[in-house]
Amino acid sequence: MTGSGGPGEQEILGIASLTRELVADGAALGWLQPPEVPEIRDLLVTITAGIPAGDAAMAVAVRFGAGGEERVAGFGYWRRHQRPTHRPHADLERLAVDPAAQGRGLGRTLLSTLIAAALRHRVEVLTLDLRGDNSAAAALYKKVGFHQYGRLENFVAVGDARYDRLLYALDLREFR
Ligand SMILES: CC(C)(COP(=O)(O)OP(=O)(O)OC[C@H]1O[C@@H](n2cnc3c(N)ncnc32)[C@H](O)[C@@H]1OP(=O)(O)O)[C@@H](O)C(=O)NCCC(=O)NCCS
Repeated sequence: MTGSGGPGEQEILGIASLTRELVADGAALGWLQPPEVPEIRDLLVTITAGIPAGDAAMAVAVRFGAGGEERVAGFGYWRRHQRPTHRPHADLERLAVDPAAQGRGLGRTLLSTLIAAALRHRVEVLTLDLRGDNSAAAALYKKVGFHQYGRLENFVAVGDARYDRLLYALDLREFR
């Protein structure tokens, strides 16, 4: 789902819950500790404010539990680069799928939706970075056409541990 409507409170809580669970399990999403709900709410409000202008896009996948309750199964978003000389480009800042729903193509579907939105908004290059040990994410990104253009060795700090930061890009001008 991408669009100009902001996420409702239920969606915010669902995204917060998924993010908190993944980060608590050590997922490489940029947080050291599970983010609190207000931080996620602020982030989502900021992202959705950019959607009408084509400065951001968000995709959210929802599934229904046995009792009919809605659960966020995955989400992702990109934002346009801020530096004036980088404005034609956007950065895929986050992509995450509920561990219970991983390995069934949802990550790829969310990513394809976000790439389609980027094409619609004439984004030229979609960038992203990932932690060097995140082989599942690396495999997904390569499968949809991203290439690695750089590596910062021992850049990502998690306590005393250091991981490489891998820099990926997808040139969407090739798809026009
Ligand atoms: C990365 C992530 C979003 C992938 O989501 P997913 O729904 O499991 O991925 P998909 O089922 O769509 O897989 C698509 C492709 O990715 C690759 N892939 C996904 N999980 C993989 C794994 N554990 N090992 C190897 N390759 C994997 C495969 O190439 C797969 O293609 P295939 O189905 O043809 O084999 C998910 O693992 C996740 O949320 N991880 C935690 C958060 C995170 O690390 N996000 C990325 C930050 S950069």
